Amino acid sequence: MQEILDAARSLFDDARSLRRELHQHPELGFREERTARRVVQELEALGLEVAAGVGKTGVVATLEGAQPGPLVLLRFDMDALPIQEETGASYASQVPGVMHACGHDGHVAIGLSAAKLLSARQAELAGSVRFVFQPAEEGLGGAQAMLADGALGPPKPDQVLAVHLWNEKPLGWLGISPGPVMAAGDIFHIQVTGKGGHGALPHLARDPVVAAAAIVTALQSVVTRNLSPLAAAVISVTSLHGGEAFNVIPSSVEMKGTIRTFEAEARRTVLERFNRIVSDVASAHACTATIELTPLTPAMVNDAGVAQRMQSLARRLFPDFDLETNYRSMVSEDMAFFLEQAPGCFIFVGSANPERGLDASHHHPKFDFDEQALIYGLALLVGATLDALHPSR
Ligand code: NI
Repeated sequence: MQEILDAARSLFDDARSLRRELHQHPELGFREERTARRVVQELEALGLEVAAGVGKTGVVATLEGAQPGPLVLLRFDMDALPIQEETGASYASQVPGVMHACGHDGHVAIGLSAAKLLSARQAELAGSVRFVFQPAEEGLGGAQAMLADGALGPPKPDQVLAVHLWNEKPLGWLGISPGPVMAAGDIFHIQVTGKGGHGALPHLARDPVVAAAAIVTALQSVVTRNLSPLAAAVISVTSLHGGEAFNVIPSSVEMKGTIRTFEAEARRTVLERFNRIVSDVASAHACTATIELTPLTPAMVNDAGVAQRMQSLARRLFPDFDLETNYRSMVSEDMAFFLEQAPGCFIFVGSANPERGLDASHHHPKFDFDEQALIYGLALLVGATLDALHPSR
């Protein structure tokens, strides 16, 4: 164990400078061209077989061990966000309005470092490793694009693993849990239509603003009244638009938002009640509603056996760490598509350091993490891969 940790530590300077370089050149989903070129360059330098353009801008590389055995897939996301960076860091984004505000720059650095460490131990491996560098994780369909292009094989991996640097928790914390760990996400778009008119003559109009306000309020009862208090779900209306003038009742109002759930049954209940409340409340106000519901990602479900092995590895690698074994987040992540099709585990690696001011949350213009976390994510993935591909197993 100490050996893996030492090896991960020995790559820290390289991983950090690579992460900082990527941080200066962030690219939005499906436009990760410079990033993909860097990834290809690093992987080819290791002598790996590399395929670029998988799922548009994704990269896949395979490391064949000296002996046959299982296939482990390690997945890393590469995209940035449309945010203007405000960290003031020396390595801040050089691209106006685009920023690595979720830590995916760190994930790429971990992935390339893992490729280095595992390539150096090729002779000891019984089995192979598929490194998947995925574009467009931020709600743009990167995982689906890679799966459509064959990232999951054949051959199909025996295990899929990924880490996420996690600023909601401090350095020295790890979240490794069996079962659902990130929520299923659905997006909604509602148009409430009534009849416009003069603001001072509401009786001659059918006011969609009042209907929309009633819908927002009524939706709050779904989670509190229709679901078991022990189940988790979120309905957030995050955008509400209608009208321009103070004296004009608009003819329609648009609403957008998101629904998050963990269990299929809770999702069914929430969607059913959601549809019903939106339509019926609109109609009670003499308006009509059209509802567009788009599934974003399924719930992310960790395999119980793989999660347990990862927990035991984490305890051996980091005996002093705070290991949380029933951590869940309502955020959604498209690694869920990989985990739907192969057993595996998604690991949260605490990366905040409040003393150094590195604790802004993900997707915030001041987001930055403690780079020591790169070592921890790297050691976990390399350790798990070596465990799975050890000839004596
Ligand atoms: Ni992310």
